[in-house]
Amino acid sequence: MTDLNRRDVLCQGLAGLAAAGSGSLLLAEEAAPTNATPDLHNYQDFLDKKGIPQIAPAAVWKPTHPDILGPFHVPGSPFRGKVTAPLAEGATLVVRGRLWGFDTKKPVRNAVLDVWQADHKGRYDMTNPRQPPKWHEFQNRIRLVTDETGYYEYETIRPAAYRAGGGVRPAHIHYMVQAPGYGRLITQLYFKGDPYLARDRWARESNLLIAPREKKVPKGKYQLATFDIVLARAEQTGRN
Ligand SMILES: [Fe+2]
Repeated sequence: MTDLNRRDVLCQGLAGLAAAGSGSLLLAEEAAPTNATPDLHNYQDFLDKKGIPQIAPAAVWKPTHPDILGPFHVPGSPFRGKVTAPLAEGATLVVRGRLWGFDTKKPVRNAVLDVWQADHKGRYDMTNPRQPPKWHEFQNRIRLVTDETGYYEYETIRPAAYRAGGGVRPAHIHYMVQAPGYGRLITQLYFKGDPYLARDRWARESNLLIAPREKKVPKGKYQLATFDIVLARAEQTGRN
C-alpha cells in the first residue's frame, strides 16, 4: 500500500467512524503489536500496601449538590483534556479534582465526566448564529475519564455569564458524572465573587463555588482551581 492509499484509508476510516461508530474501524492487516517494555523505568506506585492512594479529598464528605441539566448538553463529545480550541479567546483556566465515593470514602476510578460550557462571551456553540458547528463538531464540550486515583484535569477558558429566561445566569461550567454503581450526577460549578450568583435561582442554592488562583508562567498566566466531586450510590439517589 502506498502512503497516499494509506491516507485515503485512514480518512475513510475516520469518516466511517463519525457516521457509524467504531464498527467500521479495522486495524491494518500488516500491523504488529507494539513490544511491551519489561523495565518500569522508576515508575512510582502511589498506592499504599492496602491499595489505597495516598491522597486526601478537598471536598467535604457529602454528596455533591445537583443542579439543572440546562438546554445545551450534547451527548457523545470527544474524550480530550482541553475543552476549548487552541488559542481560544478568554482567560485560560485549568480545573482539576478528584471523584470520590460517598460510601467508600475512596476515589472513583474510570468514571466518565461530561463537561460543557459557554465561551468568553457567554455563548454555547449552537447559540452562535454566525458560527454554528457542524453536527459532528463539539465546541467547548468534552468527556474525560478519571484515572486510578479518581483524578481528572482539563484546560479551558473562563466562561462568561449569559442572559437566559429573563435574567442573567452567572458564569458556570456544566458537569455530568457517571460511574458504575453510583447515581448519575448532573451539576454545575460557579465562580466565587460572580455578581450574578445571588439572583440566580439555581446558583444561590449551590455551594459549588470555585475561586481560581492565578499562576504565572514564563509567557503569561493562567487560573487554576480544584473541584472535587462526591458521588452517592445509585440506590441512595434514585438515579442511575
Ligand atoms: Fe449553562
